[in-house]
Amino acid sequence: MGLFSSKNLDSLETLLIDQIEDLYDAEQRIAQALPKMAELAHCAPLKAAFEQHVRETQNHIGRLEQVFQLLGREPSRHTCYAVKGLIEEGQEVLSATGDECVIDAALIAAAQRTEHYEIAAYEGLITMADAMGEAKVSELLTENLEQERKALTKMKTIGKRLANDSAKASV
Ligand SMILES: [Fe+2]
Ligand SMILES: [Fe+2]
Repeated sequence: MGLFSSKNLDSLETLLIDQIEDLYDAEQRIAQALPKMAELAHCAPLKAAFEQHVRETQNHIGRLEQVFQLLGREPSRHTCYAVKGLIEEGQEVLSATGDECVIDAALIAAAQRTEHYEIAAYEGLITMADAMGEAKVSELLTENLEQERKALTKMKTIGKRLANDSAKASV
């Protein structure tokens, strides 16, 4: 969200829509970045995890479109500078050379940062939707949140395994 742009946050609904537009943009940027990360990943479980999350992210976009519909709005994006920045940072890995396991660890680190952002964003949105009594909106957002949490757990598990293997290999 462009925090310093002058916007009129006159109601919780305005804020909710504003943040959904932000996350709608974020999810689309992530959907574009993930296939590149899958291509770059060396270890098979990591590649598979990225590929699975591409499909899940497409579903996140679809659910956000349903949320727009429930709120009587056309889906619209507004630049999520946070995820744009995270992806730009992650791009540095695209041109990196070096040890395969270390490159995979860099991909995992980038993915974990993004998942944490998404989780924080969904948690905030759910709090607002619940306060507004928007049960169906809350339910859709919770489905996305649960998948983000699972994706983060999977990244952590793969990351730990890779780190242990690298540590053993370097002894
Ligand atoms: Fe997502
Ligand atoms: Fe995600």
